[in-house]
Amino acid sequence: MTKDEFETLLVHGACGSDEPWGALTTPICQTVTFRQGEIGVEPPFDYSRSGNPTRKALERQIALLEGGDHGYAFSSGMAAITAVFFLFGPGDEILIPLDLYGGTYRLLDAYFKNFGVSWRIVDTTDAASLENEFSPRTRAVLLETPTNPLLRVSDIAAVSGAAHRHGALVIADNTFLSPYFQRPLALGADIVVHSATKYIGGHNDVLGGLVALKDPELAERFLQVQKSTGGVLGPFDSYLLLRGLKTLGLRMDRETENALAVARWLVGRSGADKVYYPGLESDPGYEIQKKQASGAGALLSFELNEAHSVKEFFAALKVITPAESLGAVESLACHPATMSHASIPPEMRAEMGITDRLVRLAIGIEGIGALIADLDGAFSASGPK
Ligand SMILES: Cc1ncc(COP(=O)(O)O)c(C=O)c1O
Repeated sequence: MTKDEFETLLVHGACGSDEPWGALTTPICQTVTFRQGEIGVEPPFDYSRSGNPTRKALERQIALLEGGDHGYAFSSGMAAITAVFFLFGPGDEILIPLDLYGGTYRLLDAYFKNFGVSWRIVDTTDAASLENEFSPRTRAVLLETPTNPLLRVSDIAAVSGAAHRHGALVIADNTFLSPYFQRPLALGADIVVHSATKYIGGHNDVLGGLVALKDPELAERFLQVQKSTGGVLGPFDSYLLLRGLKTLGLRMDRETENALAVARWLVGRSGADKVYYPGLESDPGYEIQKKQASGAGALLSFELNEAHSVKEFFAALKVITPAESLGAVESLACHPATMSHASIPPEMRAEMGITDRLVRLAIGIEGIGALIADLDGAFSASGPK
C-alpha cells in the first residue's frame, strides 16, 4: 500500500460505508440487541457482545489499515492482549522481549502462569541467537518494537522467519508506531495488537484495544475468544476511535518531528546520560527501524544524570505533564519505575535495564520551542544548586 493510499484509507476506509442514510461518519449504534427476522436465519447482528455495527466498522478499519483480513475491538489494550493469550493453554510457552509494557508482563506472570502458560525473556533484537531459544513448547513470540520503555528495535521479518521455522506465532504489539509507520503483518507477524488508547485514539479520552490478523483459521478461533471473554468495545468508544484514526497520520508526523528535535537536543546534555530513540542515527536500532518502518515515532527515553533529582525534574515540568500513557496530542512524561513498569519486581526491572533514573517522554503536538524550554527549565530546577 502506498502512503497516498494509506492516508486516503485513514479518512474514508470503513467509515459509514454501509450506512443506509449516507451519513459520512459512522453512526453510534447504541443498542444491546437486534430484532430477529425469520427464526433460524442468522441476522447480520444479533447481540452486541457478538457484533455491533459501530464496532464492526472500526474492526474493518483496523483490518484494512494493518493489511489484515480480520479485526477485533476490545475495551482496552490489556483486554485485547488477554484475549490473544487465551489462544494458548497448559504447557504452552510464550517468548517475551527484554523489556515490555509492565501490564503485559504482570498478566503473564500473575495470571496466565496459573493456567499453565509459561513465559521466558529472550533477546528479540538478536534474531540469530533467537533461533536457539525455541523449545518444543514454544507457541509464540511476543514482540514490542520499539519496546516500552527502552525503545529497542527487533527485526520483525527475521523474528517471524525464525518463529515460523519452529511452528510458533508472532504477536506484534504495534502500539508505539501504529499502522501509519509500521505494518507487522506484511513483515510476517501473525497477530497485531494495539493499545488503541494511545495513537489510534490520540486524544487521551478513550481506552480501547484492537487486534488484526490474516489467517482464516486463527480468525475463527479468535472470534470465539472475543465472544466468550466479552471484553468488547462499546459503540461510543468505537466511534471515538474511528474519529481519532482520521487524523492519525497528521498527528504522528508532527509528534515524530517534535520527538526527533527533542532527542537531538537531549543528546550530549550533561543532564541526560543516555538517550534512547530509534530515530537517531547513533541508536543501535536505527537501521532496522528504517528498513521496516516509515517513521521512528514519538516515544523516547533518557537516563537522568545522578546530579539531578528525579522528583524535582518531574515537579518542574509545566507543559509536559507527568502522567501515565502516551500517544496523544499532549506531551507526557512518565517515570517507568513508579508508573508504567511498577508492576515488574525491582530486580526484574534492573535486569531489563529499567532504572529508577529512566524518564520516558511521549511527545505531543505542542510547539517545539515550548517543549524544549520546559525540559530546559526542568533540568535547571532539578540540577546542582
Ligand atoms: C505497548 C503497550 N501495550 C499495551 C498497553 C495496554 O493498553 P491499555 O492501557 O489500553 O490497556 C500499553 C499501555 O500503556 C502499552 O504501552
